[in-house]
Amino acid sequence: MKKVTLALAALAGVVATGTQAQTYPTRPITMIVPFAAGGPTDVIARIVGEHMSRTLGQQIVVENVAGAGGTTGITRGAQSTPDGYTIMMGHMGTHGAAPALYPKLKYDPTKDFAPIGMAGGTPIVIVAKKDFPANDLKALVNHVQANGEKVNMAHAGVGSVSHASGTFFSSTIKAKPTMVAYRGTGPALNDLMAGTVDFMTDQIVNVAPQIQGGNIKAFAIATPERSPALPDVPTTKEAGLEGYQVSPWNAIFAPKGTPPEIVKKLNDALLKALDDDNTKKRLLDLGGVLPTASERTPEGLQKLVESEVARWTPVLKAAGVTAE
Ligand code: MLT
Repeated sequence: MKKVTLALAALAGVVATGTQAQTYPTRPITMIVPFAAGGPTDVIARIVGEHMSRTLGQQIVVENVAGAGGTTGITRGAQSTPDGYTIMMGHMGTHGAAPALYPKLKYDPTKDFAPIGMAGGTPIVIVAKKDFPANDLKALVNHVQANGEKVNMAHAGVGSVSHASGTFFSSTIKAKPTMVAYRGTGPALNDLMAGTVDFMTDQIVNVAPQIQGGNIKAFAIATPERSPALPDVPTTKEAGLEGYQVSPWNAIFAPKGTPPEIVKKLNDALLKALDDDNTKKRLLDLGGVLPTASERTPEGLQKLVESEVARWTPVLKAAGVTAE
């Protein structure tokens, strides 16, 4: 008798989950952005989230949970109920660099998530305050090498994209500027424009409007080709620092155990957003790079995460940086 009851209960559970997946979503969905509002990850989340809401028929509500280079928000997301109502925007830092820097990290980027798909590539641009005493990358490098810790470099916390790419920049030019942490590069950009911090290596979608507005200086983009959004900004190769190439990405994840039917619905909504002309234009105008067909799939994103953890771990270990 007990066996029958248990079997029925299990069946009921499966049926309930199946039904939930069929009717999903029936209420708003929270998207955790693990950095301060207004920064690159927030910008990408709001652009694709807006169109995904229309497809899903329920609002995607962004919740900014900043701290510890993005790992605080992603930890909360990874530990949330896998019912499709909590998803998160992770990136090259939270799902690539963080394991090398946080020995006690409470999630494994390669195991604890249901990848949904990449939302966009966000190349790194080397930028500085308007009155920074250099007008090209060579002069910036010479200035940082000559002045070391007297020069301040902003970043969004250990393990963030701006921290990992900034650490890689410092080791590439063999200099040690003072690293100044913020809760995101949104607030860091405000201080760069105010001239209270000297320079940073940040994602293009955050800095492009201020570069186009002449409010900050841009020295180079760390990709093989120039960005159509910033045609006057040379590549690091053109500017004499060929070895410095960094192409971060932002992507949507759900917690592990999220039903495959719900993962499929979320991925469908993301694909529709990335195929929408207005959404594409908003990303491209900010210098964003549209994901490839493979990067837009859960399987492709899983492979990317595994390769990024493998890539960043030796780079950051060699730099001798840890958060703990
Ligand atoms: C942000 O949104 O502030 C960034 O993604 C931070 C970073 O990782 O540099």
